[in-house]
Amino acid sequence: MTEKVTCYAGSAYPESPRSFVWKDQRYVVDRIITRRREPHGVGFLVQCSPGHALFDLFYLTEEEKWHIKPEYHGMKTATHPHFQGDLMPKNYLSKTVNALKPSGIRKFFDIAATMDDIISLGIGEPDFTTPQPIIDAGIRSLQDGETHYTSNFGILELRQAIAAHLEKLYQVSYNPADEIIITVGVSEALYLAFSALLDPGDEVIIPTPCFVSYQAEVALAGGIPVEIVTTMEDHFQPNPAVIEKAITPKTKAILLGYPNNPTGAVANRETLQKIAELAEKHDLIIVSDEIYDRLVYDHAHVCFPSLPGMQERTILLGGFSKNYAMTGWRIGYATGPADLIKGLVRIHQYSVMSAPTISQYAAIEALKIGEPYVEQMRSEYDRRRKLIHQGMNDLDLPTFEPHGAFYVFPNIQNTGMDDETFSEKLLMEEKVAVVPGSSFGDAGIGFVRCSYATQYDLIEKALEKIGSFLKKI
Ligand SMILES: Cc1ncc(COP(=O)(O)O)c(C=O)c1O
Repeated sequence: MTEKVTCYAGSAYPESPRSFVWKDQRYVVDRIITRRREPHGVGFLVQCSPGHALFDLFYLTEEEKWHIKPEYHGMKTATHPHFQGDLMPKNYLSKTVNALKPSGIRKFFDIAATMDDIISLGIGEPDFTTPQPIIDAGIRSLQDGETHYTSNFGILELRQAIAAHLEKLYQVSYNPADEIIITVGVSEALYLAFSALLDPGDEVIIPTPCFVSYQAEVALAGGIPVEIVTTMEDHFQPNPAVIEKAITPKTKAILLGYPNNPTGAVANRETLQKIAELAEKHDLIIVSDEIYDRLVYDHAHVCFPSLPGMQERTILLGGFSKNYAMTGWRIGYATGPADLIKGLVRIHQYSVMSAPTISQYAAIEALKIGEPYVEQMRSEYDRRRKLIHQGMNDLDLPTFEPHGAFYVFPNIQNTGMDDETFSEKLLMEEKVAVVPGSSFGDAGIGFVRCSYATQYDLIEKALEKIGSFLKKI
């Protein structure tokens, strides 16, 4: 006998079951272990969270309905006799990859993507479409036949435009010839920077909460991420004294991400100055991810390499994804001393060759004409920022006032729930998606991240729904 079950299967329906509810518990499919075609449908043996539970899901084609076969029913993988033997596929993956934790953001995004009528405060990307002239420039480049690889460094005209842009905004000058590389987003730039810098066992100090990729990028390059905690009481500023305590002979670099994802903190000049002194004293490299540099409210952004003596020991990472609403174009850059950038280019040329040509042309246009659009989006984010910051505090969820990026980071500890449970219940009961703070490092435990790259009226609705949710607990 099979049991009917409500299963969400995403766009490739019914090829990939993603989540389902069984006995009032939602299970997320972490892994499809086997897939079988049968005369009446398709069967899937899946491993799910929570609890590495096993289920046999079956899609009956005639009925267009999902069923659960009773064979496993949530049994834990490790305790099932089959899984000691042949059924368990051999794990060919490296120890490094096996040790990487799946992103907590992905998990919630995957569930939310399979549900209707969700208000998502979960996603870290602009809700705006790329400004039209930038799109047009990309299209034009294709029509002009710019369909080839570019230099490994990226198109010279784009590197020149980035150099001029950084000079104008922050009075730092980079030589477009060999101090700038165009990358596939800041994501690739992070990967290149750590792969180029680290030997196995080298340590990188990372103030947390931080962007989910930081620890993983360091670990993938063979390094050891050393987390230091920033707190709401300290306005999520990185504390130089705490950083200094974490420095060992193995420390190679400090990774700074300000304006910060997920807290919205903007690092102040005095703090950065003290970190610069530490870098000098202990001969460290700073990797400074400034992807949100233009999304700053009532504050000035300090570009780390503009601090005295820092340009020669900083790899600056910058991008187009957030400032110009260009996440899908996958374009960003790294700047730094020529001998460091040479290392990044060496890896990039073998792994990626060159960033997408169409996106490089679009990025040139973004730097040429993008300013009014950046300002328009920034001021709309600012309006939403005020709404959501006030709204969360009014709901008795103490929330630090963010001055950058597009996130607020409410403390949810006085609800009595942990951040995972809070996020999951809020999603299931009120259909509002937020991200548990623990996804951003242990320092985020007890917080949730809410993105205000979401329309103003939807934020208003989300606040109402969070209000009703809180009343029920
Ligand atoms: C702090 C931070 N750095 C880097 C990235 C990745 O950006 P990109 O789209 O340029 O790869 C993100 C994306 O969320 C981010 O929040």
